[in-house]
Amino acid sequence: MSTPQPIPDVQKAWVSVRKGSPARSLELRKDWPVKKPLAPGEVLVKVHAAALNPVGHKLMGMMPNFILSRPYVPEHDFSGTVVDSKDSKDFKLGDEVFGWNEFGSQRVNKQGALSEYVAVPHTYIAKRPANVSEVEAAGVALTAMTALQALDLAGLEEGQTLFVNGGSTAVGAWAIQLAKIRGAKVVATASGKNEEYVRNKGADEFIDYTNVGPLHKYLQANPPQVRYNVILEAVGLPDPSLYTHSQKYLAPNGAFVSVGPQPHGFNLTSISQMLRLAGAKLFPSFLTGIKPSFHIVLVDPKKAEDLQLIGKYLEEGGLKPSVDSVHLFDDVLKAYERIMTNRARGKVIVNVSLPPSTAGVAS
Ligand SMILES: NC(=O)c1ccc[n+]([C@@H]2O[C@H](COP(=O)([O-])OP(=O)(O)OC[C@H]3O[C@@H](n4cnc5c(N)ncnc54)[C@H](OP(=O)(O)O)[C@@H]3O)[C@@H](O)[C@H]2O)c1
Repeated sequence: MSTPQPIPDVQKAWVSVRKGSPARSLELRKDWPVKKPLAPGEVLVKVHAAALNPVGHKLMGMMPNFILSRPYVPEHDFSGTVVDSKDSKDFKLGDEVFGWNEFGSQRVNKQGALSEYVAVPHTYIAKRPANVSEVEAAGVALTAMTALQALDLAGLEEGQTLFVNGGSTAVGAWAIQLAKIRGAKVVATASGKNEEYVRNKGADEFIDYTNVGPLHKYLQANPPQVRYNVILEAVGLPDPSLYTHSQKYLAPNGAFVSVGPQPHGFNLTSISQMLRLAGAKLFPSFLTGIKPSFHIVLVDPKKAEDLQLIGKYLEEGGLKPSVDSVHLFDDVLKAYERIMTNRARGKVIVNVSLPPSTAGVAS
């Protein structure tokens, strides 16, 4: 067994120092403190790779200092090796893990994935299965947990049908695979170039959303023989029409789950969309005429068992991660450029400490 390396007092880390785009907000620091001592129940992970999520740059760009208390290290998902732990019975030094730091903790402890070391509660990590590489594992926790919790919220069961809007989003691709593990049928949308990707994830039917006009109108005109039991809106569309017009394609006792509408700016269209959404959510069905339940999933870090279950599914091969691109740590702004195109297919990964030959870099 190799001797453990001493843990330095300071490290390299990308730090959000002001509100704005990643280019404006981020500074590369070489003197960011490594958390010492750990709080009870925490582990310190030497980060191999980190993954970006849309929420990372959205928080950076939208949240004022009094909410996020800058400076802080952004991003949530990582893979790495446990190098220190305080009272954790489940993990020992040298364990290879994947995990995340959730938003609430990040606000307080300023820990993030874009640093050489990250300290998190031990309930936010799981053992990395041997059949999943460090790069692949980095992009799992946040989106896979969101997808699992969305299906739980909707109560998706064996033999039912799930419709996923956004089958090539990271959340959508996990949801397809998790639904297949549950024995459900899946219909998914993406643009035509992503059909093979979405079908390889397990989708039984595919709709090219770029080719059918407004999706709710297409589904009204071409309803399924048996109405869907669950719709997962995995894009974050601010327009609630897919729910408010769903009578012909979503079962009355079905469920609609959104990953959370992401309004495009603050204008009349956005305000009207948000009001329609609030009305559909808040008013009873005899006023709105809409019977299926409406939910917004917000990933819950307290469900530690979900991360363990995802680890088990990865090990068994039911879940397979996808990587869009791998970027060097110093090139983090290029990684942000990629995720901000909203066209990534799989996770955008940042190589924090792996040899470039094992991690691959973006072409
Ligand atoms: N509530 C929560 O707890 C939670 C947690 C995680 C994520 N989220 C939210 O969930 C959403 C998805 O996140 P993610 O990380 O999975 O995204 P992502 O992987 O970055 O999404 C990129 C993909 O979106 C697809 N896409 C873009 N516009 C689309 C549209 N109109 N219809 C269908 N597909 C579209 C693109 O496919 P094409 O190129 O084929 O269009 C691309 O493959 C984001 O809004 C994120 O903020 C919420």
